[in-house]
Amino acid sequence: MTDRYCVFGNPIAHSKSPRIHALFARQTGQDLSYEAILAPLDGFADSVRDFAAAGGRGANVTVPFKEEAFRLADSLTPRAQAAGAVNTLTFINGRILGDNTDGAGLVRDIAHNLGAAIAGRRSLILGAGGAARGVILPLLDERPATIFVANRTAGKAVGLAAAFNIEGGGFESLAERQFELVINATSAGLSDAALPLPAGVFAAGCLAYEMLYGRETPFMAQARAAGAAVADGLGMLVEQAAEAFSVWRGVRPDTAPVLAELRRG
Ligand code: ATR
Repeated sequence: MTDRYCVFGNPIAHSKSPRIHALFARQTGQDLSYEAILAPLDGFADSVRDFAAAGGRGANVTVPFKEEAFRLADSLTPRAQAAGAVNTLTFINGRILGDNTDGAGLVRDIAHNLGAAIAGRRSLILGAGGAARGVILPLLDERPATIFVANRTAGKAVGLAAAFNIEGGGFESLAERQFELVINATSAGLSDAALPLPAGVFAAGCLAYEMLYGRETPFMAQARAAGAAVADGLGMLVEQAAEAFSVWRGVRPDTAPVLAELRRG
């Protein structure tokens, strides 16, 4: 019987996840279906329970339900616990297991696809919302020299950094600091807003990683102008999906052809 999976979100119509998982399934010969489900803003838990009751095996969760999925899960992996958010659910014997593959996806895209080192590099995370929180532990596991969290609202950066025993502050605290890895986990690019970053923040040989994809954001332009190598978040999207697929199926798909196909449009 075909195993059913899905992604819950709101909105969800433009999600690339059904296409990505269909490509993974074809490549690995797995008999599964993967659909996009629009959950009502006040009906996420019911949507999940209905899908599981109908025989669903697992689900991804996207905006704006990742924190609610965290609360809904009966048990959590350590990386989901650290993220405070869940993007991958597995339904086992009537229980809901919550995981978070976003950070692993980011690390894999940087280290494997882009071939950039994380170990020993001074690293900066811009933003202190859910996207930032979701990737800190997996990045720390790669042993960067430091991770600094900078945010428009300084208090949020300080609070988030303290939870991981690292440093944080407002954007003004970036003066005089330099990083070899700069990750934009803010949503500023969605409104075409530039971040007040000193040009000197991008050290020689810096990789600037924009977690958004599908657009050239002001952050990417700023980083390019400062001489940094620039990547968008499409690779992270494919890699977090591959990590979820391997959690569910025990098989790791080859992401390179899938990423190449998505880049073709
Ligand atoms: P997400 O789940 O995407 O992280 P979020 O929790 O709403 O969403 O967090 C959005 C992040 O983007 C925050 O760090 C926010 O900064 P504030 O905490 O100061 O609000 C940041 N952000 C959004 N728009 C921004 C802008 N125009 N300039 C700077 N930071 C911005």
